[in-house]
Amino acid sequence: MAEHHSARIEFDPRFTVADVPERLFGSFVEHLGRCVYTGIYEPGHATANADGLRQDVLDLIAELGPTMVRYPGGNFVSGYRWEDGTGPKEDRPRRLDLAWGTTETNQFGLGEFMKFCRATDVEPNMAVNLGTRGLQEALDLLEYANHPGGTYWSDLRRSHGDEEPYGIKLWCLGNEMDGPWQIGQKTAHEYGRTADQVARSMRYIDPELDLVACGSSSRGMPEFGAWEAEVLTQSYESVDYISAHAYYQPRDGDFKSFMASAQDMELFIDGVTATADAVGAKLKSDKKINISFDEWNVWYQDAPTGERDEPWSVAPRQLENIYSTMDAVVFGSLMITLLRRCDRVTAACLAQLVNVIAPIMTEPDGPAWRQTTFYPFAEASKFGRGKVLRVNAASPQLETEKYGAVDALHSVAVANEDGTFTVFAVNRDLEAPLTLEIDLASLGGRTDLTCSTLTDADPDAKNTLAEQDRVVPVANGDITVKDGVAFVELPAMSWNTIRIA
Ligand code: AHR
Repeated sequence: MAEHHSARIEFDPRFTVADVPERLFGSFVEHLGRCVYTGIYEPGHATANADGLRQDVLDLIAELGPTMVRYPGGNFVSGYRWEDGTGPKEDRPRRLDLAWGTTETNQFGLGEFMKFCRATDVEPNMAVNLGTRGLQEALDLLEYANHPGGTYWSDLRRSHGDEEPYGIKLWCLGNEMDGPWQIGQKTAHEYGRTADQVARSMRYIDPELDLVACGSSSRGMPEFGAWEAEVLTQSYESVDYISAHAYYQPRDGDFKSFMASAQDMELFIDGVTATADAVGAKLKSDKKINISFDEWNVWYQDAPTGERDEPWSVAPRQLENIYSTMDAVVFGSLMITLLRRCDRVTAACLAQLVNVIAPIMTEPDGPAWRQTTFYPFAEASKFGRGKVLRVNAASPQLETEKYGAVDALHSVAVANEDGTFTVFAVNRDLEAPLTLEIDLASLGGRTDLTCSTLTDADPDAKNTLAEQDRVVPVANGDITVKDGVAFVELPAMSWNTIRIA
């Protein structure tokens, strides 16, 4: 029997980290695999609305609660001609997508994406192609999207049926331009100069934009740090965010280190903020560059990519990872990190939204269901609003091969807008339960606590087409309150949402 141990936390509503940014709960829709086609868009589906959007998927997205969606890629954007996805559908060209080895039909494009954003009430986050294209095409796209009318590109949009400008505020200046896999990869100097020029010119059209320069594709990239320093040296005053991307998976059966993946995310955030601030200091700027963590997730990158082996097929099954309970707990821990660091991570995107390393799965002509990772995101988006509080924590330690000793308890506390509090807590221990003691002294004598827990005796338990609700969060009644301290029993390997009313 595994040893039972306890951890203790205390927090005070007067001591805050930051307001939780609206953009922290972003997600991502790329033209990749079945994310768009038969994911969000399937005109022939029994639930499809007049715009071809699957209502069953829209309903799950409403429950998931993303606030912003990045589009159209990802690696895809680096070879994309945005005009292909506009105008009458019968005239749209089919093209080779070199990033994923498929054929793009362009039946879904910018106008359809904007309809999707309105249907889901999310903010659009639009990426421009700085791989095969550059400044002029980015300006054309911005003029098409945001200019009211009376010019070639804005009138073209109006002729396509969208009288009102889209008003897209948030733009990514390319995607992963440091990656050797990227179409049109650039050196840091080349990219930094391009990002600066594109950003400055885009602001001539619309000065109110929020612009994201590409940071490193992962903390493991050989140029990590040096890349951010050079890109920001070139573009510091013209951009608002630097991006970060991170995906995690267990390596060589080392599940203990996998459970502590958020340690890497913390170090990543430390490294990028330190580098950005160092550039700012050197430039004697009082401006702060924040992080857009615009791709994060668990991703089994070594798993077969599915139908990619069929060359140039349309919307094949690619990157369709099926997530386990352990994956969901690690995912929850990454979400906790984003909340803990939301003073500098002011935008983030769960990559991706449907079918492709996603919390929502669909079958063509069939049902849509929730993966295990759906639940931590949905609970964080619902209850993680307000102010993140400073938490003092004492936790037992766990030894990991990759990160050394780490806290068994990973947690964050949020003062919600309605006067309640929420603690998100992960017990990283794969074997031992943990008693979480919450000091209620500074919370005005509250004793009303509830807890929702996601765990399973089988760490590999998954939700599948055949068993869609195999893993769901359950009410955890194992809570006692005594002398101003709450005692909440956290099972081994669990994600927990504790509400204090
Ligand atoms: O999200 C899948 C891919 O991961 C994206 O296209 C790319 O930006 C990243 O490498």
